Amino acid sequence: MEVVICRDAAQVGIVAAEKVADRLRGRANPVIGLATGSSPLDLYAHLAKLVDEGALDLSQAYGFALDEYVGLAHEHPESYHAVIRRTVTEPLRMNPARVRVPNGMAADLVGAAQQYEEAIRAAGGVDVQVLGIGSNGHIGFNEPFTSFGSRTHRVPLTEQTRNDNARFFDSMDQVPTHALTQGLGTIMDSRTAVLVATGEHKADAVAAMIEGPVAIAMPASILQFHPDVHVVLDEAAAAKLA
Ligand code: F6R
Repeated sequence: MEVVICRDAAQVGIVAAEKVADRLRGRANPVIGLATGSSPLDLYAHLAKLVDEGALDLSQAYGFALDEYVGLAHEHPESYHAVIRRTVTEPLRMNPARVRVPNGMAADLVGAAQQYEEAIRAAGGVDVQVLGIGSNGHIGFNEPFTSFGSRTHRVPLTEQTRNDNARFFDSMDQVPTHALTQGLGTIMDSRTAVLVATGEHKADAVAAMIEGPVAIAMPASILQFHPDVHVVLDEAAAAKLA
């Protein structure tokens, strides 16, 4: 595990984006795994800059979002379908037909999850997985005590995660209670993972992920076993590292 500590969030985005771009360049059909939330926004903004400057071409790339809320219409501005379109597909000039998000509106969520796994496999697997981390240590929406071997699956969201994400909704009762998320096993299959975290509210989870025991109470700790993972932090998120 490589850990890079940057002076601020803007620098985190640049350093992390350069790592992502390095691993996507030169591949005919690169596959990028996409986190949503606030953490990767600077990273995506810098990737968009590289695309605008002609330093990166993602027109032939495939994208797979990590997760989606269950029961939130794809047209809802806070659905991850809408967020990925707004923050990734359009600014990075990706082909919308090649960017997928789990279908949290499917009547058959088990079937939708299996199809998602098959689509990732058919694209050749994820070259670079972009990750954030929840304040409780979740990655994707794999909450504490999720099996390390899990594949894409439906999960209940903890109260902590619903509270953390309430800022995107008008009221707490609008925050979805469940999500469809890539599993920890799915995430661990990525060839490279780049995790970004900023702010002091991430410091406990970051320290436990990097320096704590590998334990299902701290889902992100499984990344200690990932063969090529890069953690890019600002000083506040790194504050509790030994
Ligand atoms: C979202 C996701 C989550 C977030 C995490 C941190 O697709 O995978 O694991 O990365 O909840 O969210 P932010 O970045 O908003 O603090």
